[in-house]
Parts: sequence; C-alpha cells; structure tokens
Amino acid sequence: MKSLLLKKYGDIGKALSFSEIDKPIPNDNEVLIEVKAIALNPIDIKIAKGDLKAILPSIVKKPKLGFDICGIIRKTGSMVTSFKNGEEVFSRLPLHKGSGFAEFVLADPDHVASKPKNITHEAAATIPLAALTCIQAISKYAKAKAGQSILIDSGSGGVGTFAIQYAKSLGLNITAVTSHKNEVLVEILGANRVICYDFESFLDDGEKYDIVFNLIGDNNPLRSILAAKKGGTVVSIGGPPDIRFVLKLKINIIHKLLLYPLFGLMSLPIKILALVKGVNYYRFLTESDGKQLEIVKGLIEKGKIKPIIDRTYPLEKYEEAFEYLKTNRVKGKLVLNKIY
Ligand SMILES: NC(=O)c1ccc[n+]([C@@H]2O[C@H](COP(=O)([O-])OP(=O)(O)OC[C@H]3O[C@@H](n4cnc5c(N)ncnc54)[C@H](OP(=O)(O)O)[C@@H]3O)[C@@H](O)[C@H]2O)c1
Repeated sequence: MKSLLLKKYGDIGKALSFSEIDKPIPNDNEVLIEVKAIALNPIDIKIAKGDLKAILPSIVKKPKLGFDICGIIRKTGSMVTSFKNGEEVFSRLPLHKGSGFAEFVLADPDHVASKPKNITHEAAATIPLAALTCIQAISKYAKAKAGQSILIDSGSGGVGTFAIQYAKSLGLNITAVTSHKNEVLVEILGANRVICYDFESFLDDGEKYDIVFNLIGDNNPLRSILAAKKGGTVVSIGGPPDIRFVLKLKINIIHKLLLYPLFGLMSLPIKILALVKGVNYYRFLTESDGKQLEIVKGLIEKGKIKPIIDRTYPLEKYEEAFEYLKTNRVKGKLVLNKIY
C-alpha cells in the first residue's frame, strides 16, 4: 500500500514522501482501519522539525506522523470484541503509533470510537485530538462545573473552536480570545464574550476566571495565571513542560531523570507564580482515549458540537495544506481526503 512517510527531519513539505510499504496486519488486540480522511495538526510540523526529540524518544527512532483519522474497520484481531468489519470509526492514534497518512493503519481498539452518524468522514477526522484535548483540559484537569467562568485563549483554531462548543455544552460562561477577524466565528460558536487580542489584552479589565485554558506558547501561561481566580485552575497546552508532564511521558527512568531538572527549571517561574497566586496549574500532553471519543460522538449527534473545517485538500496536495497550517492562521481544522 502507499504511505506518506517522514524520511528525514526538516521542513514538513520536503521531509515527507510517498512510499510503497506492506499493508499492516493486526495482532490479536488491534484493528486494521482503511483511512478515508485525515486531519492535520501543528504537532505533525513539530515532529517533522525534530522539536519533540527530547520528550518522545520512540519518535526519534522511527518518526511517525498523522494522528487524527476517520475510516472503516477492515480486519479485527482475534481478541477484539468491541468492533466488527465494516464499522465506520474515528480515532486519535497515539504519538508512538501515528502513520495515518496511509491507505490502512493499525489501531488499539481502546483508542477508537464509532464515527458520529450525522457527519462525513472528513468532518469526523477533524475531531479526535481537539476533542480529547478539550475533555482532558476542561473536565479531567479543571473539573469544570456548570456556571463557572472560563477564559479560552485562543478560540479560533482547531482546539479553540472545539473548546468553545464543549465548554458551552457543560454550561460554562465563556470568554474567548481571538483576533478581530475571527470575532464573529467565536461568537457564533458560543462565546459569551470576545476579547480581540489585536485591540486589548485579557489582563486589561482585571477580570478573574475560574478556569483559564491556554493554547499559546512562550510566556502565555504566566499571563493565564494572572487571569485566574485564587483557587482557580489554569490548564495549558502551550509553554514549557513541567515535572508532572515528564512523569506522564512513556520514556525510561534515566531519560526522565535527565528531563526533570531541565523542565523543572524551565517551568519554575510559572510554578512560583501559580503558588503565589494560589492557582492550580496543569501542563499536559493529550492522551488517546476511545471512551472519551464516544462522549464526543454523542455531543455531535445531538447537534451540540459541529466540526469546523477551514479547508479540505486531496491527499496529494498535502504540501499546500501544511504550508497553510504553518501560517498559524487556520480557522478550525484542515483535512485531507481521497486517501487512495
Ligand atoms: N496537549 C497538548 O500538548 C496539545 C494538544 C493539542 C494542541 N496542542 C498545541 O496547541 C496549539 C493550538 O493547537 P491548534 O490545533 O488549535 O492550532 P491551530 O488550529 O493551528 O491554531 C491556529 C489559530 O491560532 C490563532 N492564534 C494564533 N496566534 C494567536 C494569538 N497570539 N492569540 C490568540 N490566537 C492566536 C489563530 O487565530 P488568529 O488568526 O485569529 O490569530 C488561528 O485561528 C498548538 O501549538 C498545538 O501544537 C498541544
């Protein structure tokens, strides 16, 4: 079968190329999925550049890309009882597995869920990573309750557009940060209030939130902590990893011991500020989880969450798609279809 593989670290457009490889065979506990659509994520670009070499050694040995897929089960391992041939499914493949830019891919059934019936393969492929990230940030770490306030920084990308809709479904009061050009989009998605970062900062009005969900890197986690109430929670998917982040990585103990001081030092200003302000702070890496995707399926089928697709490309236009992703201006998600 044909597969789009990362041959060397570098600029993703040039680092990827098509190869003819053997069709994978599922072991007893795996399913074989015929891929119908695959969504792009910034992490594909980061892995291709080699930015994650320090934290994901399995990827260093055999770098893999392509994590958000939708398709059809074509074969099940002998121990698999949760899925059958012909079932339409979607999944976020874990980082060490990836390989979704291919005609077929193997998956652990625990990472797979039935595709929502009311949307296309393309739309379903845009959901898994963004959805899992939002469920884990807002429900698992922040333990959000209806009526609480949340600041989502930022609201217009793949994760942000899902976060606003998910927070709405939980009954949260949402303030979303975006550029002026995307103000209407985030309002339509359900933000109660919009802060346009090109005109004002979310720190200007002194408002404090029960939860701050930070999607931006650099020093943004520090700004997020300043915007959280005492006793509130900041959950971040941007900025430096911390020691708790290292503990969760699937790497050996020696590698962990090397990363502790490095990440401990990098995240020290954030930890100190969180302590001083009495704010809970979490920096996490999203985990694959089929059960959480089943919850999302329900929300989509009830019409509470709609996939937001900026552009759809045929697979062979992957370079063009990644060039657009690199601009950091995508509204919602980018998806590749017509896999082969
Ligand atoms: N658990 C994890 O560790 C985890 C999981 C998922 C994603 N991530 C990371 O989280 C980040 C967001 O992911 P994504 O998939 O949502 O990315 P994305 O879709 O590529 O984000 C693009 C959006 O970011 C907005 N944006 C850019 N600069 C901004 C700024 N200064 N303030 C507010 N909004 C800004 C842009 O809107 P404007 O044009 O309006 O600026 C655009 O709509 C990425 O860095 C990704 O790697 C981490």
